[in-house]
Amino acid sequence: MQFKTAFAILASMAASVIAQTNTNTSTIIDLLRTQTGQTDQFATLLSGSPQYQNLITKLSGNGSDANYTVFAPNNAAITKLGAVGQNVDLTNIILYHILNGSHPASSFSSGINIVSTLLNNGSYDFYSNNIALPLVVSKNDTGLQIPYSTNETANVTQADLKAMNGIVHIIDSVLSYPISPSNTIKNLGLNQLYMALNSTNSTGNIDTKKGVTIFAPNDKAFGQFSLANLNASQIQNVIGYHVVDGVYFSPNLTAFTSPMNLTTQQGKNITVKNLNGGIEITDVSGNETAKIVRSDILTNNGVIHIIDVVLIPSENSTIPNNTSTNFTNTNGKGSAANSLHGAEFSFAAFLITVAAAVITIAF
Ligand SMILES: *[C@@H]1O[C@H](CO)[C@@H](O)[C@H](O)[C@H]1NC(C)=O
Ligand SMILES: *[C@@H]1O[C@H](CO)[C@@H](O)[C@H](O)[C@H]1NC(C)=O
Ligand SMILES: *[C@@H]1O[C@H](CO)[C@@H](O)[C@H](O)[C@H]1NC(C)=O
Ligand SMILES: *[C@@H]1O[C@H](CO)[C@@H](O)[C@H](O)[C@H]1NC(C)=O
Ligand SMILES: *[C@@H]1O[C@H](CO)[C@@H](O)[C@H](O)[C@H]1NC(C)=O
Ligand SMILES: *[C@@H]1O[C@H](CO)[C@@H](O)[C@H](O)[C@H]1NC(C)=O
Ligand SMILES: *[C@@H]1O[C@H](CO)[C@@H](O)[C@H](O)[C@H]1NC(C)=O
Ligand SMILES: *[C@@H]1O[C@H](CO)[C@@H](O)[C@H](O)[C@H]1NC(C)=O
Ligand SMILES: *[C@@H]1O[C@H](CO)[C@@H](O)[C@H](O)[C@H]1NC(C)=O
Ligand SMILES: *[C@@H]1O[C@H](CO)[C@@H](O)[C@H](O)[C@H]1NC(C)=O
Ligand SMILES: *[C@@H]1O[C@H](CO)[C@@H](O)[C@H](O)[C@H]1NC(C)=O
Ligand SMILES: *[C@@H]1O[C@H](CO)[C@@H](O)[C@H](O)[C@H]1NC(C)=O
Repeated sequence: MQFKTAFAILASMAASVIAQTNTNTSTIIDLLRTQTGQTDQFATLLSGSPQYQNLITKLSGNGSDANYTVFAPNNAAITKLGAVGQNVDLTNIILYHILNGSHPASSFSSGINIVSTLLNNGSYDFYSNNIALPLVVSKNDTGLQIPYSTNETANVTQADLKAMNGIVHIIDSVLSYPISPSNTIKNLGLNQLYMALNSTNSTGNIDTKKGVTIFAPNDKAFGQFSLANLNASQIQNVIGYHVVDGVYFSPNLTAFTSPMNLTTQQGKNITVKNLNGGIEITDVSGNETAKIVRSDILTNNGVIHIIDVVLIPSENSTIPNNTSTNFTNTNGKGSAANSLHGAEFSFAAFLITVAAAVITIAF
């Protein structure tokens, strides 16, 4: 219910926000300029190049046509960015810091909030229907944080600076927008899953999809489930069982009370339960239940939730014990293809049931 709560609070706050912003005579861009020692370098950066003219025009309005919320990187963050060089896609990065409408800190609900940014031009249209890339805003008693780029977190160091055309929240990092699922999986250190994707040439299958949710098993999960015993199409079958069409953020998965079935790309369902202790996913066998151990990691076409168990797309299977082979230590080489090949003839009994369930995967 977090989405609904967020919207409800937003609606109820609207009146007081308008009352407060009406008393402010600065535009967002002027406000950024006059926060000396805080956001003046961000303003200088925007003013320093003609490529940002459109942005400046937007942020210079009087609010009669549109209001914006800007997560403005502080001077230290902009200085750090300078060290990265001019190589970065700065216009799009800046668009990723701006939301339509006024969103004061009080409008966010406790926990995870998913908000749309202005970054929705063609090159970033991997969500379906021209949906803009979102941001995760996480709120607790300490304040607002923005997790980004797999393991990074930006903190809102000063919230609710009011301008006549919106609101500025100062943050302590420059955010980067989400990247492909396969690179996100790699950066998250989900090595076994990444190797499984890579070894079966499946990265393109998840990267070019529009709007997908991936339940990504961590390396520990693979400790009990050796994909090395499976051939490429069987691995694809297992991977496809962890991918669902549609973008289900954690607020979507908790926005129901009874178990919900989601149909995977492999064809079989998984069952999602919202429990007090978190979100659990049970496979068709009914024997294996995974917990979401980290939720809402954005990709450029959806979201990844890390889970602690490999789900099995077959009714009659149990997890086979790891037969000691894994993707990274076969023959001292990092070749998944080699270890797959070598293990192909040592199938566990499990494999027979998996093989029976292999169907063509329509990625
Ligand atoms: C922007 O906010 C102002 C109040 O600050 C309000 O008068 C105006 O209607 C808003 N504009 C839009 C397009 O929401
Ligand atoms: C709030 O979140 C921050 C960042 O994730 C964390 O360091 C802090 O401990 C949290 N505070 C509470 C009260 O949970
Ligand atoms: C944001 O706050 C968290 C916890 O309070 C801290 O670990 C992290 O380093 C801070 N981020 C930055 C960029 O300073
Ligand atoms: C992100 O964190 C995970 C888990 O702590 C780690 O394995 C991985 O290497 C980290 N990735 C990056 C890019 O730092
Ligand atoms: C992924 O697969 C390609 C060949 O398909 C290979 O060249 C590359 O080294 C692999 N990457 C990793 C990290 O294994
Ligand atoms: C992956 O692609 C490479 C290069 O196109 C090919 O050599 C290899 O056999 C493929 N692997 C699988 C499992 O399809
Ligand atoms: C997730 O929740 C949002 C907000 O309620 C909704 O717009 C979106 O359609 C939901 N996503 C799915 C896949 O149901
Ligand atoms: C799978 O889930 C879909 C969507 O919730 C549902 O319509 C269908 O009946 C389910 N199939 C089975 C076998 O439970
Ligand atoms: C969900 O899936 C389970 C197991 O496949 C099935 O027993 C149940 O009827 C399904 N429920 C719905 C609502 O589709
Ligand atoms: C669960 O696993 C047991 C073996 O441990 C198996 O006999 C049983 O059929 C499995 N249950 C289902 C629903 O597949
Ligand atoms: C896995 O190994 C444990 C002991 O190491 C054993 O108790 C268990 O029965 C084994 N499970 C399977 C499915 O072979
Ligand atoms: C599962 O077991 C049932 C009966 O035990 C059998 O009819 C069915 O074919 C099996 N399914 C698979 C995929 O092995």
